[in-house]
Amino acid sequence: MISWKKRLQAGALTLAVLALAAAPYWPWEEPRTVQAVLGGANIPDGPYVALTFDDGPRNSTTTALLDGLAQRGVLATFFVIGENVEGNELLLQRMEGEGHQIGLHTYHHKVLAELNATDFYAEVDELRATLSALLGREDFMLRPPYGMMNAATQARAAAPIILWSVDPEDWSDRNTERQVSLILNDVRDGDIILLHDIYPASVDTALQVVDALLARGFHFVTVEQLFAIRGRTPENGKVYRQLPPE
Ligand code: NI
Repeated sequence: MISWKKRLQAGALTLAVLALAAAPYWPWEEPRTVQAVLGGANIPDGPYVALTFDDGPRNSTTTALLDGLAQRGVLATFFVIGENVEGNELLLQRMEGEGHQIGLHTYHHKVLAELNATDFYAEVDELRATLSALLGREDFMLRPPYGMMNAATQARAAAPIILWSVDPEDWSDRNTERQVSLILNDVRDGDIILLHDIYPASVDTALQVVDALLARGFHFVTVEQLFAIRGRTPENGKVYRQLPPE
């Protein structure tokens, strides 16, 4: 016997799959205005920076991070893994509801450059469909695991590819003090910072960096907002590492 809840989920998934078949994922039908992306808010003067978090969500650490970001009124971008979405659906809905951007980091953290077309679509499109069923949208940017890709990856992406320009390699030592000082020494207007929201030390790093950069006058925006602020439209299959001022 299939419960009504399961039937609803199956129905939502079917609708999402139909919607995906009908429309291209990207680019947007029309360039989004800064006001639309920022929710009608006034645009403060820069500098701007985008915090991005890979490999989550993880309930304990991602919840602590979302709490800290909310206290500071700061938005970020999360490139999530499909198998970590399972069981953390409420966390994803919280992220979306609080204005954070959610992107694709494959279903099982695979090196996209090593996959044939079938496996590529299983890794990327399945995650896209899972997120679409959960969040009711399908315009997710892509971050390839390890930043590894090739021309086939770009051709198959059906999404802008977002890399990074500041990387403290937080996975290597879980040392908040070292990570914070590296980021604060490196960061410039338009940078995209890479962290992982699956380590407690990285959450501490992120929140300390937020406090320090807010004090320096930086504004934290999602990657999508950064494009809008720079007046640039993200394109399918194109690779972006940072969005400095012109
Ligand atoms: Ni990763």
